[in-house]
This record gives sequence, C-alpha cells and structure tokens, in this order.
Amino acid sequence: MSSREVGQGFNTRAIHAGQEPDPATGAVIPPLHLTTTYKQDGVGGLRGGYEYSRSANPTRDTLQTALAALEQGSRGLAFASGLAAEDTLLRTVCRPGDRVVLGGDAYGGTYRLISRVLEPWGITHQPVDLNDLGAVRTAVAPASTRVVWCETPSNPLLNVSDIAALAEVAHASGTLLVVDNTFASPYLQRPLTLGADVVVHSTTKYLGGHSDVVGGALVVADDELGERLAYHQNAMGAVAGPFDSWLVLRSLKTLGVRMDRHSANAGRIAEWLLEHPAVGAVLYPGLPEHRNHDVAAAQMSGFGGMLSLRLRGGEEAALRLCEKTTLFTLAESLGGVESLIEHPHRMTHASAAGSPLEVPADLVRLSVGIEDVEDLLADLEQALA
Ligand SMILES: Cc1ncc(COP(=O)(O)O)c(C=O)c1O
Repeated sequence: MSSREVGQGFNTRAIHAGQEPDPATGAVIPPLHLTTTYKQDGVGGLRGGYEYSRSANPTRDTLQTALAALEQGSRGLAFASGLAAEDTLLRTVCRPGDRVVLGGDAYGGTYRLISRVLEPWGITHQPVDLNDLGAVRTAVAPASTRVVWCETPSNPLLNVSDIAALAEVAHASGTLLVVDNTFASPYLQRPLTLGADVVVHSTTKYLGGHSDVVGGALVVADDELGERLAYHQNAMGAVAGPFDSWLVLRSLKTLGVRMDRHSANAGRIAEWLLEHPAVGAVLYPGLPEHRNHDVAAAQMSGFGGMLSLRLRGGEEAALRLCEKTTLFTLAESLGGVESLIEHPHRMTHASAAGSPLEVPADLVRLSVGIEDVEDLLADLEQALA
C-alpha cells in the first residue's frame, strides 16, 4: 500500500492519493489485481503483507487509501455494498443491549437493517429529529446509547443536520457520531473534519458515479477504531471485490467535476420547479427557503445533485410524473451521470411503510445527472404538463 506525498487540493488527491504508477511496469493506472491468493516465499514469507484477498488485496488497498485521503481520515475500508459497510460498523461497535439513535428520515434500508435485522440480536433504536438538539440530547442520555446515526443531506427528504453540533451532543455522552455522507460525497462535505467519528458511504452512488458498481465504505479518523473495523471487515468478510474497487477508483478521479455539474444542474432545476404550479414544495438544501439552508451553506461547499418535490396533485400526480419523463429514467439508486426519477414511498423506502420513517406518497425524488440542463428542464416540463 503506497501513498506518495500529494498536494492538498481535493482533485489532486482524488487522482493521485495512493495511486503511484505501478513499480513493476510503470502503468499509470493502478493494476486490477484479480487474485484470491499470493505466493509466499517460504511459510509466512509474505510479499507486501498479502496472503489472501478477503484479508487484503492491492486494488482494494489503493481504493481504501484514496478514500481515507478524500475524507481526511486515517483509515478507509471498502465493502461489498453500503449496507455491508453499515452492518460491519454496527456489529463492531454495538453489543446486545445497546441503542442506536437515528435520524427520523434515514434511508429505508438503513432503518430496515437496524430495526429488523439487528433488533432480534438485542440492538434497540430510537428515531429522533436530528434538527432538535434538545431531543437528541435526551435520546442519547441512556448509557446504553452507542451510536448517533446521521444522514445529511438525508434520503429522500433532503434534511440537513448540523454535524458539528451533533458531534458535541454525542461526545458529551460518550456516543459515536456516524455520518452517512452518500448524498454529499467528500467533495462537498467532510464530516470527520467537523467532529464525526465515522463516515459511511454507499459507493454505489456518487463515488462510483456511473451506475455500474455496488459498493460501500467506512472512513474513520481514530486508529484504534480503524483497527477494530479492519479486523471485522476480514472476520465478517463482506469486502469489496478487486474489480469493483478498481471501478470506484477510476470514478473518484472525476468526482469533483461531476459534483460541480450535478450541483449546478440540480440548483437550476430546483429554482425552476419552485415556480411550477403543479409543485407544492421543492426540497433542496441550496434553496434559501430550505429550513437548514444556512447550516448546509456553512458545512457543504455545494448542494449536490439530489432533490425531491411534492406534487399538489398527491400520490396520483407523483406516480404520473415518474411515468411520463423520458430523459429522467424511472429507476432506484442515484448519483450516476444519468438522471433518474423515483417514487420513494413505493420504491426505495417501501421498507419504512407504517414506521415513523414513512415517506409522504406525494413525493418524487430526482437524481439530477450531468446531461445538458435545458434538456432536463424540457423533459420535466412535458412530464408535468
Ligand atoms: C443514503 C444511503 N445510505 C446507504 C445506502 C445503502 O447502500 P447500498 O445500496 O450500496 O447497500 C443507500 C442506498 O440507496 C443510501 O441511499
């Protein structure tokens, strides 16, 4: 695992951190190490510490080094999916009897993992409005609280939480603050620098960026926590494969330019939607009307490509919009270069139905891609007509 001295600029780190030309051949792009095992020079004589690819693989190591550099952490760990990363994290830091306090609008899959999979193993949870710091303080007070789980901006309500303020509340009661940074990406927001203990990613989204790889990541600042997570990454085994790691590494190089374009397109569309008579509300942190616009402006360097809208015509109008767009493809997931549209209540967040995290049925989520914005606006115009 190599990490040459790189510049401080984000884009420079994205292109170079951990990614020296291959010493054997000079290949400028890190090789894809499709191997499960490694020749030993005598029993225990490992070359570069590699023995088996669940424990370590050079391509995955390169990605992990780059992720740590981008999030300004000390250690990055790459997993088979975002949920695999979350599961490994929660089963590393929680024990039966422990509690997780999570935002009342966390991603449905995160809520399902905590409430359905981990609860039978004795982990309890409490949803809370993360904007209400008094409520968070009360929720974390019991000594059994191990984790505050914050997703900001959140999926799909685009709520924004004050990471530094939450870190203070969590740490005052000895609790870890976990931030799911999937929507912002490290280009727009670096939670570890604001006091968070762990950053979670679905690298399936902006980090992968091309809708062709499912993956997840954890990044931490604390070495000891990094060691414990690395132990569990190997012991539990939900690692990112070498090709998936290589794809994410390839995509990291353009993360900055993609996020700039995603943000510009989404900002333009958010303003346009605000004026549309069929639209009751636009949820986008870049709008001055957003209830946490000031916090978003302070802790993010741009507002990203995700936005949601609520239709005056209710669920029927929301479903119709999802079916009528042509450039915005009706599909789950987000963060790719192509624009997607979906109905969270029935699709990505169906697992939250009937829970406190249920998503309104009149809400449509857009993952705004990097196409020409005039074409995207024309598509929305015809679909809303
Ligand atoms: C905010 C957020 N976190 C975590 C996940 C889970 O990631 P994955 O689908 O890669 O398991 C998702 C997936 O949509 C997500 O949107």
